[in-house]
Amino acid sequence: MVRRGCGALTPIMGLLMDRPLPQLDAATSPPTAPDAQHARGDLRDSQDRVIHDLRLSITDRCNFRCIYCMEPGDRFLPKRALLSASEYMTIVDAAIALGVRKVRLTGGEPTLYPVLDSIISELGRRNLDDIAMTTNGSLLEPARAARWKAAGLTRLTFSLDTLREDRMSAITRSKTTVADVLHSINVAAEAGLARSKVNVVALRDVNEDEFADFADLARERDLDIRFIEFMPLDSGRSWKPGRVVSETEVIEAITARHALQLRDPMNPHSTSRHYDFADGAPGRIGVIPSVTRPFCGACNRLRVTAEGAVRPCLFSNTEWDIRPLLRNGGTHEDIMRFLVDSVWTKQSGHSIGAEDFQQPDRGMSAIGG
Ligand code: 5AD
Ligand code: SF4
Repeated sequence: MVRRGCGALTPIMGLLMDRPLPQLDAATSPPTAPDAQHARGDLRDSQDRVIHDLRLSITDRCNFRCIYCMEPGDRFLPKRALLSASEYMTIVDAAIALGVRKVRLTGGEPTLYPVLDSIISELGRRNLDDIAMTTNGSLLEPARAARWKAAGLTRLTFSLDTLREDRMSAITRSKTTVADVLHSINVAAEAGLARSKVNVVALRDVNEDEFADFADLARERDLDIRFIEFMPLDSGRSWKPGRVVSETEVIEAITARHALQLRDPMNPHSTSRHYDFADGAPGRIGVIPSVTRPFCGACNRLRVTAEGAVRPCLFSNTEWDIRPLLRNGGTHEDIMRFLVDSVWTKQSGHSIGAEDFQQPDRGMSAIGG
């Protein structure tokens, strides 16, 4: 197994930790989708799910080592393996031509990618409904956030799993404080970005006593707090069913303090349940029940990793390598065909908890959330 991780601590350490480019085996192109699908001109899989949301991981590096994601010793890709800004945009343009309406930049930590700002500017010139980015919020300068907003970034999603300073370093294994991330969240609001989302991975015996405090934070700062059930995507492979805190438990903990009202109870296709505060306070609560109530049937996402592996599913065990096509003169049409073929292979769902479940070789930092 090749374990990809992130974490540029210093340039010297980065050099020491770089590993050789992965040897890509020959069968890294997807099989051809039916002609009828190519004629349709959209990104549709064999289960008739249509992709509108492209998630681009632009680096696998990160300055955190969150316990549910990376291990301190994880290695990361050499810089030459990462796609360039123009290679990302070639993929984005093909995806837009095939109906993608939303792009989310992820990592690792995307703010560590040197040409992030030019990618955001380029995305802003495209006809997209939504340009979002997930960050750990360790460093967000007001001028940079303002530039992103001016360039067309819609919103930021922050990862923050505790509001207690004494727990922060144990969870993230970084020097970033809760106060730093809360400051970054303010900077995003002051830059005029849309209401920020905050991802909280719900972890047994780690932060399960803080869910109602996060609800308070949502109310105070008008945030959209998303609790995510812990998924077996940690490179340390410490996931166990017993460490998952379920959607039901999260909602019970919050409603003990604040009554919630389910938004859009009639929509069976929603990937997460969204709640408003029953008393009309600002802020929102969402739960992403990836483990206890998988929403695979409603999935409209396609992922591309930092080195150009096209992953139709978070849990894919097969991925398609678009980098050779990008670097050997593939045309816009070739890239479109590659994406159509890749999406056609999207698996119907995951089987977390089942005996035959196989955790992907990549951890979350090397896939992109
Ligand atoms: N389970 C659930 N969520 C995870 N994330 C990272 N690893 C896991 C995991 N094993 C979340 C982080 C980040 C988002 C991209 O994915 O909180 O916000
Ligand atoms: Fe970095 Fe995000 Fe993984 Fe934490 S969850 S180690 S911030 S990539």
